[in-house]
Amino acid sequence: MKVAVISGGASPEHEVSLDSGEGIADAAEALGHTVLRLVIDADGNWYDGQHEAIALLQDCDVVVPALHGEGGEDGILQGFLQHLKIPYVGSGVAASAVGLDKHLTKSVLRAHGIPVAPGITLHNDDAESTMQKLKAAGLDFPVFVKPANGGSSFGVTRATDLPSLTQAIETAAAVDHDILVEQEIRGREIDLAVLEFPDGRIDTAPALEIHADPAEPFFTATAKYASSATEFVVPAVLETWLARRLRSTAIEVFQTLGCAGLARVDFFVPAGGEPVVNEINTFPGFTPASQFPRMWAAAGISYADVVQNLLETAHA
Ligand code: DAL
Ligand code: MG
Repeated sequence: MKVAVISGGASPEHEVSLDSGEGIADAAEALGHTVLRLVIDADGNWYDGQHEAIALLQDCDVVVPALHGEGGEDGILQGFLQHLKIPYVGSGVAASAVGLDKHLTKSVLRAHGIPVAPGITLHNDDAESTMQKLKAAGLDFPVFVKPANGGSSFGVTRATDLPSLTQAIETAAAVDHDILVEQEIRGREIDLAVLEFPDGRIDTAPALEIHADPAEPFFTATAKYASSATEFVVPAVLETWLARRLRSTAIEVFQTLGCAGLARVDFFVPAGGEPVVNEINTFPGFTPASQFPRMWAAAGISYADVVQNLLETAHA
């Protein structure tokens, strides 16, 4: 196959995406595919190393949008590829758009009875209406403040009091005008990898538990990408009922949002309680060290096998 792997992008997750794209492109080449490596720079220009490169896409059999965040994981690129009738890996326009927007994700999942963290969304609210919304929702400190459209925890802060909440809202507002304020859920942080197979079967790999660097206040971008003290336990040690519940909920989330190809569904599991969906990533981190391929490795499916599977489930 002739495979275009697109990475970079104009989002804050540019660098992570370069690593995801490099891993996928190397694996696709090792599988014998001809690979066109395209990078989108911060201004949205496309390059194949030296040249402007959008026209080269037309020759490819499959495109891998190995992009995280706005402009690449939010349906915009997917709509463009669909318009060009070029098969691409992963979710289509609607699932990508809803999946990147945490406010929309939670609204859809809540409507389907899938548990999500209690919280509110601020849309240009002033301090007074913010406090009213917080009170009405019964939120208590600590809370998490997040840009609705973001990733890799950029712009996310744990707020423990009013001054830190005000600062956290400013930090998130630098990334997005829609801001989530969510109740902290104390407990375990567990990820599920969902994959669609060429025969149409949708399945999950063994779950992964995150033990974020204890020096960080939560699983921050630093804990994700720069810390050697963050540990992933895979397979996570889970009671049978919990493993089953996480698996069925992850698949339900995937299907409810109309996802395709792949997704990582992230959960919080409070002590003695039911799992709560934190978020979905329709193109999760995909470096060889990332959670998604590591979960599949625990199922006996190598990084290269996952890449080949993705290429075979690409759709126009
Ligand atoms: N959004 C980041 C890349 C992740 O899913 O891990
Ligand atoms: Mg995310």
